[in-house]
Amino acid sequence: MANILSGKTAVVTGGEGGIGAAICQRFAAEGAQVVSADLRKNGDDKTGVEFREYDVTSETHAQELFQNLQAQWGALDILVNAAGIEIEQTIEETSLEDWNRIFAINVTGTFLTAKYAMPLMRKSDGASIINFGSYDGFIADPSLAAYCATKGAVHALTKAMACDHGPEGIRVNAVCPGFVDTPMLQSFFGSSGDIESLKQAVRDVHPTRTYGKPVDIANLVNWLASDEARYASGQLWVMDGGLTAQVQQMRL
Ligand SMILES: NC(=O)c1ccc[n+]([C@@H]2O[C@H](COP(=O)([O-])OP(=O)(O)OC[C@H]3O[C@@H](n4cnc5c(N)ncnc54)[C@H](O)[C@@H]3O)[C@@H](O)[C@H]2O)c1
Repeated sequence: MANILSGKTAVVTGGEGGIGAAICQRFAAEGAQVVSADLRKNGDDKTGVEFREYDVTSETHAQELFQNLQAQWGALDILVNAAGIEIEQTIEETSLEDWNRIFAINVTGTFLTAKYAMPLMRKSDGASIINFGSYDGFIADPSLAAYCATKGAVHALTKAMACDHGPEGIRVNAVCPGFVDTPMLQSFFGSSGDIESLKQAVRDVHPTRTYGKPVDIANLVNWLASDEARYASGQLWVMDGGLTAQVQQMRL
């Protein structure tokens, strides 16, 4: 069977993070040419993945990246906006500077990268943008106020983009993970005194009794990026081990 992304070109922001790296590797394994666009390179070389230093908050970086890819590829088939940060605070604890920073990365970063990718994506025969929302864009965890607000904004932006650009042959979806074992989740665990108890509590609160791995999310993103998902657009794809299917799930 042919690789599902054979001949396609892809950019993944946050491509050096836990979920982004798994997506880059899966895309490359499926035959795509892949650029990982992130602040800094992390870990070993990923086979078939080209690293570009990229700050999602910089309009200049966005303009330069896609001008460059215009010359290199001529068209862009897949954009994944996976760069993101989390701040574990209530609104009273959140400084205006931190509020602006998390919006700049999670929301403005998604907007800017997609805005400058559009001309190249219109040249694709079937383009797909995958934004990163979260189950926290639907329901709230304690002390994640600004983060929840950014993910709600990404969900709304995803639907608006899908409406505007569907007629141009560009599908837009958001993936909304639950708990996924990445540096972001490790940092959340690291803020607790008793990490092992917290990890067990997180597993126990899932109907599937486990949290996710980056590869679980990469599997869904891979399908959304492919032509098999040609009728999928404007949707918020929750992948959370059943976490949000139940009542009172956050008793940690
Ligand atoms: N891990 C989870 O449990 C979880 C759950 C729901 C949603 N998400 C979302 O999934 C996405 C990926 O998360 P992850 O868990 O892999 O996090 P991660 O911390 O492992 O990776 C995030 C990546 O984003 C990059 N990044 C941060 N600021 C950037 C900037 N200004 N410009 C470019 N890159 C920047 C980081 O360098 C890092 O490589 C995020 O949007 C996150 O909010 C994660």
